[in-house]
Amino acid sequence: MSLTSLKSKDLLGIEQLDKEEIELILNTAESMKEINTRDIKKVPTLRGKTVVNLFLEPSTRTRTSFEIAARRLSADTLSIAAATSSLTKGETLIDMIKNIEAMAPDAIVIRHSSSGVPHMISKYTKASVINAGDGAHEHPTQALLDALTIRDYKGTLQNLKVAIIGDILYSRVARSNILLLNKMGSKVYVCAPPTLIPPQIEKLQVSYTSNIYEAIEDSDVIMMLRLQLERHLHTSFPSVREYFKLFGLDTEKLKHAKKDVLIMHPGPINRGVEIASEVADGPSSVILNQVDNGVAIRMALLYLLIGGKRSEDNY
Ligand code: CP
Repeated sequence: MSLTSLKSKDLLGIEQLDKEEIELILNTAESMKEINTRDIKKVPTLRGKTVVNLFLEPSTRTRTSFEIAARRLSADTLSIAAATSSLTKGETLIDMIKNIEAMAPDAIVIRHSSSGVPHMISKYTKASVINAGDGAHEHPTQALLDALTIRDYKGTLQNLKVAIIGDILYSRVARSNILLLNKMGSKVYVCAPPTLIPPQIEKLQVSYTSNIYEAIEDSDVIMMLRLQLERHLHTSFPSVREYFKLFGLDTEKLKHAKKDVLIMHPGPINRGVEIASEVADGPSSVILNQVDNGVAIRMALLYLLIGGKRSEDNY
């Protein structure tokens, strides 16, 4: 019998999900997509539920997407930003969570610059905690929306060659995608300067190269990553110009890729740093399709965690 609910009350990372749970989320998101094409994009599924968006690090796509997803399912939403919260008055994050918990939310979506914060706060609340990105650790909803996008175009997540190129060391997107793609049976190649590769990369069960041509050759999917300069502790390459020459994706390098390769990027993109404009906006790019799928994935997760449990339900 196929799985109809997730095993945990929280979504803390891809690490905690098994293959069947990933498939359940993707299949549920597939049925959510239809709602997003309606003239009136709203269903009563989560009426009476409250979703707190706690974004303590900047975000455009993830925060907006969770807010739209919750509203399309008729949940009440509220957003708390670091700058306007009592964290600025010295309140600890745990005290803040205990106070939010006292108001009985159903889900807390959290982004934080430190790894492990969603895991910590899940111990202080009965609400479902959803990791919207924790430091350089995980960004599970990004990997899920990426997987949905790949599946849309390639029809499968098995036996694909996926090249992840850029700042692997500081990227939570890379880590979540590596975990997910390995679980689903694809082969991941990471490509970066040696200074931006985590120590013991082989433990992540990926192939590593610092030659971008080797990474993109025969790849079904190329995921470009932003340089996470805000997390860099020291200079990792001589200049942005040299970085772009060696690791940036432009039309010349793209000529070495398969004709039907998908170009992905989690955003925000830095044009001319990791990707040229003509590639980001070109025919192989599915960057905005990823954003579109983000809403469906977040609707699916909210539904599975705090709403009904059955992927075959009518919404
Ligand atoms: N991809 C992503 O997490 O983008 P934001 O930082 O804008 O949320």
